[in-house]
Order: sequence, then C-alpha cells, then structure tokens
Amino acid sequence: MTRPRRLFAIALWLAGQTALAGTPVPVKAPLGLPPVPVPQDNPLTREKIDLGRKLFFDRRLSPNNTMSCAMCHVPEQGFTSNELGTAIGIEGQTVRRSAPTLYNAAYMLRLFHDGREFSLENQVWGPLLAGNEMGNPAVGYVIERIRGLDDYRGLFERAFEQGPSMGTIGMALASYERTLVSGNSRFDRWYFAKDRDALSAEEREGFRLFSGKAGCRACHTVGARNALFTDHGFHNTGVGYARGMGGDRGYRVQLAPGKHAEVRESETASYSEPPPNDVGRFEITLDPADRWAYRTPALRNVALTAPYMHDGSIPTLEEVVEFYDKGGVANDALDPRMKPLGLTDEQKRALVAFLKALTGDNVEALIRDARRAAPGS
Ligand code: HEC
Ligand code: HEC
Repeated sequence: MTRPRRLFAIALWLAGQTALAGTPVPVKAPLGLPPVPVPQDNPLTREKIDLGRKLFFDRRLSPNNTMSCAMCHVPEQGFTSNELGTAIGIEGQTVRRSAPTLYNAAYMLRLFHDGREFSLENQVWGPLLAGNEMGNPAVGYVIERIRGLDDYRGLFERAFEQGPSMGTIGMALASYERTLVSGNSRFDRWYFAKDRDALSAEEREGFRLFSGKAGCRACHTVGARNALFTDHGFHNTGVGYARGMGGDRGYRVQLAPGKHAEVRESETASYSEPPPNDVGRFEITLDPADRWAYRTPALRNVALTAPYMHDGSIPTLEEVVEFYDKGGVANDALDPRMKPLGLTDEQKRALVAFLKALTGDNVEALIRDARRAAPGS
C-alpha cells in the first residue's frame, strides 16, 4: 500500500513544481541577432507564451469584442498593417501613427516611434486603454472581463500562480512577443556565416552602398557579430516635419483592393478632421532639438512591413530610397547625416535589392504558430 501512496505524493510534488516554475522555454537567437533580452522577473515559459498568444488574438479584450492586438499587428502582414498608413482603432477611429512591426520588438531598448516606453510588459496598457485603439475604460475593466471568460479559467494561475492582474497580463503578452524574433536572412548567411553565394552581386553592391556612399549604416547599425539595423536613437529625417508643416499634402486612398486615388488635403478639408499634430520625440523630452525626431526602426523583414515611416507616408522601398537620395526634407532640426546622395538608378535598385534580402527564414513558421490561437477564444 505504501507504493501507490508514495507515487501519488511524487505526482503531487511534480504538479506543484510545474505550477511553480512552468515549463521553461530556451530562447535561441537566430543567426545575425544578439541573445534575446528576457527580464529576470519574467522568464519565458510555455504556459506564459501560450497565454500571451491567446490574449494577443482575443477580440474580447475590447469593450465591443472587435479589437485584438492582431487587428493592427497582423501576422500575415509582417505583424503590422500593410493596407493602412496610420492605424485604425475601435469603431473606425483614427490613430495618428503607423503600427510598427512586432518582429524583433523584443530587442528594442525604447518602444513606440517616440520611445516613450521601455518594457514590453508595460507597453500593452497603451493600446488596451487608448480610447481610439482598443478602447477599454480602465485596467480593472480588462481584468474583470478576463476573469469572467470561462476559457481563461486556470490559465493565469498555471502560468503565474496568480490570476489576471495588470502585471500578469503584461507579462503574458510580452512573453508571446519575445517569440517573434526573426533573423537568419540571406544577408546574415552571407555576412555572418560567410556563405559567399547567399547574396547576389546586386544585393552585395546594395550593402556596400548602405555602408558607404548612401550612409544608411550610420543610423541603421550593423555590428561585428550581429545586426539590429538600429542605433536605438532618434533622428529628424524630415518625414515628421513634412507631415506637420508641409502645406497641402497628397494622400493615397485605397478605394478597393489594388485601386488607389490621389487626394489632396485641401480637397478633403471641409469634411475631414485636420491631421493630428505629431512632433515626435519632442513630446517626451520637451527638448526643441528633438522636434520631429523618431526612433530609428530596425530594418529586418522590411520587405514585408510596408507602408513605411512613423506615419506610413511612404508606400514602397523604392520611394524610401528616393526620399533619402533627396536628403530627406529640409528643416532647422534635420539630422546632419541627411544630405542628397546622388545615387544612380542602378545604385538605387541595388539598395532596394539589399533591403529585400533582410527577410528572416522563420516568417512562415511564426505565422503558422500565430494562427494556432483560434480567433476570439
Ligand atoms: C488600433 C491599432 C493597434 C492595436 C489594436 C494595437 N496596436 Fe500596437 N501599435 C499600434 C501603433 C499605431 C503603434 C505605434 C504608436 C506610437 O508610436 O505612438 C503601436 C506600437 C506597439 C508596440 C511598440 C513596437 C515598437 O517597435 O516600438 C508594441 C510592442 C505593440 N504595439 C504591441 C501591441 C499589443 C501587445 C497590442 C494588444 C494589447 C497592440 N499593440 C494593439 C497600433 C495598434
Ligand atoms: C540620420 C539617421 C538615418 C539615416 C542616415 C538613415 N536612416 Fe532610415 N530611418 C531613420 C529614422 C529615424 C527612420 C524613421 C523615420 C520616421 O518614422 O519618420 C528611418 C526609417 C527608414 C525606413 C522605414 C522603415 C520602417 O519600418 O518604416 C527604411 C526602409 C530606411 N529608413 C532605410 C534607410 C536607408 C536605405 C538609408 C540610407 C539611404 C537610411 N535609412 C538612412 C534614420 C536614418
């Protein structure tokens, strides 16, 4: 009789251990990326990642059951929205900026285009509570809602030994987001693994220009052992100035899939809201030198994350390169590294070809993994 009882005791002990620790998930950075930063007080476990994924796709995290994180950070659209320059939130409300990709967000030292946040755990409360994004009236409202959903019963307790709270909701979502690292691109295989054939001659020429004549690497950093393509800094390239001060701007409006019309701001002024003010990093530091400065985006998977810039104002990589070739948009606070480049058409094509070689090898796998969470459950 002692044997089964002892086995039962061992089983209970084991169950206690898993509840305590969860199932640790090793985080292996792909070729070209540094180790994934994971905070000490939120180690990655299978239980947290699964719970975070479920929350990320759950439209019941908005009062009218329409908006989940994935409505703006769409897995099939580079974890951003390819069809929207600036995001659209609950009940069709305008958001003034473009949704950044969540690929490699785990590495960002500063979050949001203006760097106002620094941890993925805290960041989630921005969209959850913004009236024009997911529209929840309060932290407690979100917690009560999740508590009331049967299919969440026990999941927080298993992952954290405590129920849903401001902390555990952030920790679960952040854990899922830390799985969205993407590297081992053809560029990485050529540059870091020395596979000479991984890039074409044109793409290699593009990287030479990126590092040399075009001066891109000054801000989109490439290290000796890995490359995030960002200096984590804030720069005024003139995009924000053009939006705020540039006079009668043109918009590209999608009428039907693939059908666009060019509309001028003056034509829509009588029935449309004026564009919201956006002064970038200045709003956070109140330092005039930071007017229209935005965080340097990482360029990995950039072929998948159009449209570009904090306001989604540049639709293609070809046009991004044209923008830099002209030296950005002149203004008093323009970064001194921005100047006309005098690139030939061939050189512009090479730069674009290089940017398109930065797509990670696990994009399909991450999309498949994302869709394991059934919508709304
Ligand atoms: C309505 C569209 C929308 C929804 C819904 C939304 N986001 Fe975002 N997200 C954005 C926009 C726009 C930004 C940039 C805002 C800014 O810079 O001011 C952003 C920024 C972020 C960032 C910062 C990325 C970086 O590189 O700095 C993270 C992380 C993020 N969102 C995660 C989430 C999570 C998690 C959820 C769900 C809880 C969510 N988002 C819901 C539109 C959305
Ligand atoms: C002075 C620093 C600086 C230099 C030099 C620079 N960039 Fe950027 N880059 C930025 C910043 C800052 C942004 C974001 C601007 C914004 O959001 O309005 C950006 C945005 C981009 C984007 C859009 C990415 C996205 O996800 O929206 C691409 C692509 C890009 N740069 C490529 C290049 C290329 C190619 C070069 C060289 C021709 C270059 N950059 C030179 C700072 C720089």
